[in-house]
Amino acid sequence: MAEPAQPDNPSQPDNPSQPAKLAVTNQKGGVGKTAVAINVAGALNERGRDVLFVDLDPQGNATENLGMRELYDSDPPTLFDVLTEPDKRETIVDLVESHPEMDVVPSSIDMTAVEPELTLSRRSGEQLHLCLQYVADDYDYIIVDCPPFLGNLMDNALFATRNVLIPALAEDTSKRAFELLFDHVDSLAADYEIAVNERGVVVNRIDVRKTQANEMIDWVNNAFEGTPVWEVRERAAIQRALKNGGSIFVEEPECDQLDVFSSIATNLDEQFGFAEVTA
Ligand SMILES: Nc1ncnc2c1ncn2[C@@H]1O[C@H](COP(=O)(O)OP(=O)(O)OP(=O)(O)O)[C@@H](O)[C@H]1O
Ligand SMILES: [Mg+2]
Repeated sequence: MAEPAQPDNPSQPDNPSQPAKLAVTNQKGGVGKTAVAINVAGALNERGRDVLFVDLDPQGNATENLGMRELYDSDPPTLFDVLTEPDKRETIVDLVESHPEMDVVPSSIDMTAVEPELTLSRRSGEQLHLCLQYVADDYDYIIVDCPPFLGNLMDNALFATRNVLIPALAEDTSKRAFELLFDHVDSLAADYEIAVNERGVVVNRIDVRKTQANEMIDWVNNAFEGTPVWEVRERAAIQRALKNGGSIFVEEPECDQLDVFSSIATNLDEQFGFAEVTA
């Protein structure tokens, strides 16, 4: 595998050797954050990128969908301890698990108690950022799968990554979800004096037979002028791959949605300034 070029990461201009970081986020539940995050990570791996996947959701769906269900019930120290105890930040390196397509920081049952704990901490939104510096050097990308609520964990994901990829369903309720999400992102960006970049929207689980789906795709394309918008169809293969512990690239290579995730990965590489992999 050829050595990928270092990214020119515009979100962290003072530290260009940092990996590209991306939060896959939407406070609306069940829109496909985990499915998109895993398949984007799989697509980046196909392009030769080294990916660290962080499951920041206390539900632990990504941990389970990457075949690591047993780690969700691990004894401490877990991601909870790393995020809430400053002298344990460094031990995030011990949490990193190997998956055939990526490295993974799994979630844990303890994470269900992390929200109030983070509220008590002095730098409540900065903890993930402070932890990731101990692992950042080893990766081209860090992908963070967010929980479905606007809280401390979401703030930590936004602050640590400064970049968002937003999955949404092709239905009317998504408009309100975008509004709430952007209000939240804007106020966090103002509070912390940072810029958060929209790297793309993934309209997910599209059933082309539904008129509402087509109307929604048009609406998103108009509303997000200048931001890439991708369309992922409803496919049983995507569910099967997750159930079997990986992305469609490994588990369901015949799936016709491979191209969509490949083009997301190609576009992210362009946005983050990676050179083409030649191997
Ligand atoms: N394109 C798709 N085609 C078919 N099923 C899909 C697709 N995308 C996601 N799913 C399924 O939809 C369900 C919800 O997806 P997923 O868990 O990725 O959503 P989420 O936004 O991460 O949910 P949560 O908000 O609970 O974290 C899962 O069962 C997943 O397998
Ligand atoms: Mg999820």
